[in-house]
Amino acid sequence: MERLTLRRPDDWHLHLRDGAALAAVVGDSARRFARAIVMPNLKPAVRTTTQALEYRSRIEAALPRGAKFEPLMTLYLTDDTPPEEIERAKRSGAVFGVKLYPAGATTHSDEGVTRLSRCFHALEKMQEVGLPLLVHGESTDPAIDVFDREQVFIEEVLGPTIERFPGLKVVLEHITTREAAQFVEVTGPNIAATITAHHLLLNRNALFMGGMRPHHYCLPVLKREMHREALVEAAVSGNPKFFLGTDSAPHARPAKETACGCAGIYTAHAAIELYASAFDEAGALDKLESFAAVHGAQFYGLPLNEERITLERTEWRVPERLAFGPEELVPLRAGETIAWKLA
Ligand code: NCD
Ligand code: ZN
Repeated sequence: MERLTLRRPDDWHLHLRDGAALAAVVGDSARRFARAIVMPNLKPAVRTTTQALEYRSRIEAALPRGAKFEPLMTLYLTDDTPPEEIERAKRSGAVFGVKLYPAGATTHSDEGVTRLSRCFHALEKMQEVGLPLLVHGESTDPAIDVFDREQVFIEEVLGPTIERFPGLKVVLEHITTREAAQFVEVTGPNIAATITAHHLLLNRNALFMGGMRPHHYCLPVLKREMHREALVEAAVSGNPKFFLGTDSAPHARPAKETACGCAGIYTAHAAIELYASAFDEAGALDKLESFAAVHGAQFYGLPLNEERITLERTEWRVPERLAFGPEELVPLRAGETIAWKLA
């Protein structure tokens, strides 16, 4: 197959940042995707509906002229998010999820949740009004091996939570392990997962290819090959519980190339092309459209996009660096080629 036409996809997990960084990256997503679930981990975090609406206006103002792109906003869950705020968020029609960052789990998670039991009233309200909980699923116990944190979180936090709130819609974001994929498969239809392109394409060897590779460092960290294979299997399975979420997370080059570098991989410059490569390698290009443009919308109860995009099998070279406001950004596959190109 040399050309592939699909319904315009959506990105169900995206970091757009703010200010000059936002202006630098939002066009990459808007060229490919019709909508994106926008993460609220700004500094300070997007905790209220008012802040989410203001952030949405800044995103819309930063869009390239003529771009059609709908930011779907989220709130950042804290220990003291009041149920009234959940109700306001739902009523606004602009907020589509509430993000759980266990405090300390990842970039800008220090305002996050210290104990999920402190949020039970908020979760109850989310269950009632049908606002999904979007989960960064990693244990924050420093004693737990970093490669095991997703699995431990599922056993200790997520499992008990969905038992307590059986009607709560939950998206386990950016899953990285076979255990996570299996958990999502066996739970009810209100539990789904996003999968990133980088977790489909890379295993943890990519962190140490001939030396330390900070641009392959993200959270949850890349896992071993067995897990990558399980994620590919889930993504191409046709199971509607799995859908596209890039977790594209730009950081300026100096923040990555340093003694204590930030977690986050930038993939928005080639997101759907990278997914096409992963599905192609699996011999499953025919499954890309449902994963990228159908399952997520169905889970969130939103209409499917009517526009189409076309990908061509044409090699192109990714620039070594991209402009990132006054700084620069190193994208995934910098200086290398990608086999699929947006027509
Ligand atoms: C994200 C970021 O930089 O905001 N980083 C990452 O490695 N994925 C935060 C997150 O989603 O964990
Ligand atoms: Zn993320």
